[in-house]
Amino acid sequence: MCGVFGFVGQPTDVGNAVLTALKTLEYRGYDSWGLALSAADHLLIDKDVGRINGRRRVYPISSQGIGHTRWATHGGVVAANAHPHVDCFRRIAVVHNGIIENHAELRSALESRGHKLESDTDSDVVAHLVEEELAAGRDLGAAVSNTFSQLDGYNAVVVMDRLQQRFVAAKRVSPLVIGLGEYGSTVASDAIALHDHADELVYLEDDQLAVLHARGVDLYDRSSMRQITPISRVQVGPREDIDRGDYPDFLSKEVSEQPEALRRLVREARDEIQVLADAVRASGKVIFVGCGTAGNAAAAGAYLFSEICGHDVTIAPASEFRYRSQSLGPEALVVALSQSGETVDVLDAMAEARNRGARLAAIVNTPRSTLDRSVETRVLLRTGTEQCVLATKSYTAMLATLLLTASAVAGRSSAGSEAVLRAADAIDEVLVNGTRERIRGIATTVARSEHLFVIGRGVHYPSALEAALKIKEVSYIHAEGFAAGELKHGVIALVEPGTPCVVLCPDDQTRTDILSGAAELKSRGGHMIGVGSIEDPIFDDFIPVPDAGIANPLVEAIPGQLLGYFAALERGNDPDRPRNLAKSVTVK
Ligand code: G6P
Repeated sequence: MCGVFGFVGQPTDVGNAVLTALKTLEYRGYDSWGLALSAADHLLIDKDVGRINGRRRVYPISSQGIGHTRWATHGGVVAANAHPHVDCFRRIAVVHNGIIENHAELRSALESRGHKLESDTDSDVVAHLVEEELAAGRDLGAAVSNTFSQLDGYNAVVVMDRLQQRFVAAKRVSPLVIGLGEYGSTVASDAIALHDHADELVYLEDDQLAVLHARGVDLYDRSSMRQITPISRVQVGPREDIDRGDYPDFLSKEVSEQPEALRRLVREARDEIQVLADAVRASGKVIFVGCGTAGNAAAAGAYLFSEICGHDVTIAPASEFRYRSQSLGPEALVVALSQSGETVDVLDAMAEARNRGARLAAIVNTPRSTLDRSVETRVLLRTGTEQCVLATKSYTAMLATLLLTASAVAGRSSAGSEAVLRAADAIDEVLVNGTRERIRGIATTVARSEHLFVIGRGVHYPSALEAALKIKEVSYIHAEGFAAGELKHGVIALVEPGTPCVVLCPDDQTRTDILSGAAELKSRGGHMIGVGSIEDPIFDDFIPVPDAGIANPLVEAIPGQLLGYFAALERGNDPDRPRNLAKSVTVK
């Protein structure tokens, strides 16, 4: 979702530096973009809808600028709604991520005091409120602090005053990280945007306010405006590989990185997994929470825990957590699963769990994300940055982490590691032999369908949900995953001759029952696509995947990822940036 960036420092081509930084934030998902520069005697604003692409423009040399990628919440996708937003005198420019829940009342109060707001967004009230604070004689820091305290909801704002060589940042829940470098200071929603500019990072906390200037940052306690020192400064590590390399897109790159990511996890995460397993053992109750793909991983985890270590784990979509589990206490361990560590519903669920006295743990991919910084116990997935909006390598790494943790709880860590390594080899086989091409062929047919169903039983039911999610996210085919036993209770009414039905059919205790479900669909004319290690005459098409025993859910994730990918290509969709979706969902 929205990405924020700002630079103040030695005079340079700030405009193009902002554009370059915004491009690194593109993966979060956006529909328009904009920037503001302090030019000699005016504020230069440049905005547009659509992608930044390879754009370079001629901008004046400047010593400060801010920029934004917008994922529309309030107001349509038009240039006027793109950030930055300005005050009545075009002195203040504001970029914002989040939702200002009380924007309507703030807007009407401002309008009644004579302000002219130029957009339909919730964001431009900030520029006008700061304008009033400055007019009342407050300095920029106090002006932003007073303004920010009037905003309801989870928000991050960066406010630039063209008359001063400094700008101010404040946040609640929505992330902001500050970069300190030789040539100036920077701020962004994600550290990935600061690599070109920073040697050290400071993660802004909710109760703080940052004043950035060419020589560094002054941090304040936001309510008292007392100056404080940063809790910690983090050295910027080596630049991560965030290029596509020789791959045509990030989706195919990240799918192919899965075997190595799983092996890395087995090699490097053993101690963290043991600590999580000890926390599970010490808990009377374990609850997994997550959203989207991470929620599907949580559901698979509940089956894996039950089978491997006999623990009965509860799962909850993170966005629903606050409405249930009211009686949690210190005996409970709430484990959040999240690729980004910034999904606001996940952070909210964890805040709720903390308030109820539960202990908190996380399985998270992004180091130093808000989730990572806020829990006592965590396992890092170590897959590297996931750029494609579709979660792929983070999903299989979550499944592996859950399998390894359940094995450690059962005192069988080595068996868990062996199972994951076997799955890594099996995925390699699916990706390199003719299976990938076979999936491409099947996807060509599937791409002509309006509806598609995926069925599984047991731990393969969450796999069916995840395969359907992958297919619908990127191909826009209506795909639904079902527990095969539920077919007769409604879904079967939707099956027509030729409807593609993907059947997850591994060689385990679910096989007989899943084949019965497949027969019911076949009798109604369904086009049956089997996934497993043993063919069956019932299947019209078959995707062979090597058997990986208890780790089969990791391997059977790949056909769903590739079916979605190839169907998307067939339909002319962008595999990395599906319409309407965002990688990091930082609003409720
Ligand atoms: C968005 C993404 C999904 C992801 C979900 C949860 O909807 O598009 O791919 O599964 O958020 O994200 P998280 O970062 O918490 O795993």
